[in-house]
Amino acid sequence: MTFTTKPLGTPLSAAATRVMLLGSGELGKEVLIALQRLGVETIAVDRYENAPGQQVAHHAHTITMSDPVALRALIEREKPDLVVPEIEALATPELQALESEGVVRVIPTARAARLTMDREGIRRLAAETLGLPTSPYVFCDSLAQLQAAIDGSGGGPAIGYPCIVKPVMSSSGKGQSRIDGPADVQKAWDYAMAGGRVSHGRVIVEGFIDFDYEITLLTVRSLGANGAVQTSFCAPIGHVQVKGDYVESWQPMPMDAAALGSAERIAKAVTDDLGGQGVFGVELFVKGADVWFSEVSPRPHDTGMVTMITQWQSEFELHARAILGLPVDVSLKSPGASAVIYGGVDAKALQFDGVADALRVPGTDVRLFGKPESFERRRMGVALAHDTDVERARVKAKEAAAKVRPKAA
Ligand SMILES: Nc1ncnc2c1ncn2[C@@H]1O[C@H](COP(=O)(O)OP(=O)(O)OP(=O)(O)O)[C@@H](O)[C@H]1O
Ligand SMILES: [Mg+2]
Repeated sequence: MTFTTKPLGTPLSAAATRVMLLGSGELGKEVLIALQRLGVETIAVDRYENAPGQQVAHHAHTITMSDPVALRALIEREKPDLVVPEIEALATPELQALESEGVVRVIPTARAARLTMDREGIRRLAAETLGLPTSPYVFCDSLAQLQAAIDGSGGGPAIGYPCIVKPVMSSSGKGQSRIDGPADVQKAWDYAMAGGRVSHGRVIVEGFIDFDYEITLLTVRSLGANGAVQTSFCAPIGHVQVKGDYVESWQPMPMDAAALGSAERIAKAVTDDLGGQGVFGVELFVKGADVWFSEVSPRPHDTGMVTMITQWQSEFELHARAILGLPVDVSLKSPGASAVIYGGVDAKALQFDGVADALRVPGTDVRLFGKPESFERRRMGVALAHDTDVERARVKAKEAAAKVRPKAA
């Protein structure tokens, strides 16, 4: 089923198109700004007050979004035309119920939100249902099961060393670590138990893929002129992750033609299955012509912030258009790069020194997200750069990011 909203109207009137973001961090903030530009009435929801997106929306609410009662009550009260998840930790079974009752439409679909809520749903779908290439993996509920999965003594294939352990419910590398030998197993288990979002004690252990590079393939499902859903691919985005968290990205990532073909086939298969309309961030590992599916976000992706400087329509504008049933253009404007600006300090209110110096680096731009509280490794902003090639742009983005120095006010 495809979706076009009623004609776009006037915010804060009976003719408004109303969109609710569940999660209003830096990615949600940009989606909200894109929606604002189309005259959409916006409702920003987060778990804490003054989240970045709440600062730019018509309405702001602070609730526990994993609480089904609170989530249903808010959606029934606000009656948005669309609900747009920005995070994974939502009461997704309740969203499915609300969608099937016809109360609301969830982007891209409530089923996609549920399947990607933890690592198990999406991994089993990709590997076992769709037969896509992934790392070898086993889900484990105890330290003993983890050791057995690595050794192959539990009946399944031996995952072996090195391998990676991740809580099934976590993002941005939280609770994730690499195991190089038997001495690391206990430590990795304890770390996963401390770092999981919801402590239900389940992990995935994955064989380590010795990839040449990894990409995010932004895949857009939008309505074509004939009213049917069409799939478009942005140019591949290369990125560097440190401890499972993105620190740098660039676009386009030069790729072997066969590998790009495989990447697009994998992305098409998984997004066709998840369905609906919107942007998906398909994460893939590449070695030579071999490509492995890693995971997918049914929404804009953090590494895709680079598109704010590299594409005519950023991933946030693409998402806004696609979910409203409007046409999209995924073409590249310029090679470019992004580099994350971390808080560096634990503090409640920050000041940023060096922003003017950063912006003096030619061809750069800076986004400061406006988060009310900083932690040392919290992402507080991003530097963007364009240039004639990605290597130059990467140097400039990193140079600009390094010039921004957050400090406690
Ligand atoms: N099986 C693997 N083999 C090699 N590297 C891996 C493997 N799994 C994860 N990684 C590395 O760790 C990074 C983070 O892993 P993953 O995307 O699964 O975690 P995440 O917590 O969901 O991160 P994010 O939310 O930032 O996308 C990957 O981008 C990759 O660099
Ligand atoms: Mg990831």
